[in-house]
Amino acid sequence: MNDLPARPRVFAPLGETLPASWYADPGVFVKERAAIFARHWQLFAHESRLPAPGDYVAGVLAGYPIVVIRGRDGQVRGFHNVCRHRAAQLVPDGVGHAKSLVCPYHGWSYDGDGRLIKARDFGEDPGLDPAAMGLFALRTETWKGLVFVCIDRNAPSLVDWLGPIAVMARDYPLEKYRFYRDKIREVDVDWKAYGDNYLEGYHLELMHPALCAAIDVDRYTIDVHDRHEFFHLYGPRRDGGLTQGLYFYRFPVLMLNLYDWGASIATIDALGPGRMRHTNWYLFEDLSPEGKAERDRIVEWAIEIVSEDIAIVTGVQRNLNTGVYDRGRLSPKHEHGLKGFHDMVRRGVAEYDSGWRPTVRAG
Ligand code: FES
Ligand SMILES: [Fe+2]
Repeated sequence: MNDLPARPRVFAPLGETLPASWYADPGVFVKERAAIFARHWQLFAHESRLPAPGDYVAGVLAGYPIVVIRGRDGQVRGFHNVCRHRAAQLVPDGVGHAKSLVCPYHGWSYDGDGRLIKARDFGEDPGLDPAAMGLFALRTETWKGLVFVCIDRNAPSLVDWLGPIAVMARDYPLEKYRFYRDKIREVDVDWKAYGDNYLEGYHLELMHPALCAAIDVDRYTIDVHDRHEFFHLYGPRRDGGLTQGLYFYRFPVLMLNLYDWGASIATIDALGPGRMRHTNWYLFEDLSPEGKAERDRIVEWAIEIVSEDIAIVTGVQRNLNTGVYDRGRLSPKHEHGLKGFHDMVRRGVAEYDSGWRPTVRAG
C-alpha cells in the first residue's frame, strides 16, 4: 500500500489569450488608464531620493503629471503638478529641490504642504480665496522606503492594497536597503505583453540560460492570488540551498524581488497602447566600495535577463499590431498566471464599461 503510483497532475484547459487588439487599441488603453492605473497604487520614488525638506521627484503617472515633495515637517506628500492659476506645470520632471514650488508661468508659489503662499502681483480680487487654492493633493504613502501614489482618492490604504505581500515580506529589511542604481527603458511593448511574459515559467529554459543556471526551473511555480490581485513566484535556488528570495508581481505592474542582501524592484508606466517604460531599481544593504564588483555582477546579470525578455516581447508586440494573429491558447501546464492576469485586466475594463471612474479630487 506504500508504493501507490504518484497521482498524475491534471491541468485543466485554460482557454484563450486576450485578443491581440487589446494590446494595441487606444480605446482599451483609455479604460485601463482610468480603471486600472488610476485606481491602483503605483510605485513612484525611493525615499532616498527625498532626504531633506524641499526635495522633490516629479514625473507622469497614468498620464497625470505629479510631484512628490518632502515638506518642512519631514512628511512626504504628493500633488498633481498643476498650478491652480492657469494649469501650468509647476516643476519640471525629474529630481529637484525647492524651498517652495514657484510656478514658472506667473510666479504663484506653494509651500511643501501644498498651501498657496502667494499669488504674485495678482491685484485685488475678493473672489480669490488663497485657502481654497492649494495644490490638488494626491494619495501618497510609503512602505519600507518605497513611495507610492494613487490617483483615485477612494483607494484603500497602501498596506491594505499590498495585502498578504506586506505580511509575507515583513522579515525582509527593505527599508534598510540602499538605492544603488536604476535601469530605465522605453520600448514599443504593451504593459500586458510584458506582464504575460513575467507570469509564466514556460519560456525560462529557452530564453534565460543564466537564470536557469541559478534557479531550479523544474520546481519553478507561480501562485495566483486572485482576491488580492497578486502573484507569488517561487524559484528555488539550484544548489539546493534555501530559497533566499521572495518574488511577487502585484497587479497591475509592481515587481518585487526581495533577497537577504538587497532587492530588485521594477514597475511599468503604461505610456500608451503598445508602449511602456520599464523602471528597475537595484537596492543593496551593503554599498561599500569592496562590494562594488559583486554588486555590478548581480546587476548586470539581472539586466541581461530583462533584456532577453524585452527582446522577445518587442517582436511579440510587433506581431500583435499587424492583425494577422488574434488569439492563442494558454498552456494548461504553464500559463495559469496569464489566465489570472487576464481576468484582472478584464475585470478592470468591465468596471470602466459599467461606469467606474477614479475620483481624482478631494471634496
Ligand atoms: S499658471 Fe501658474 S502662476 Fe499662472
Ligand atoms: Fe523571462
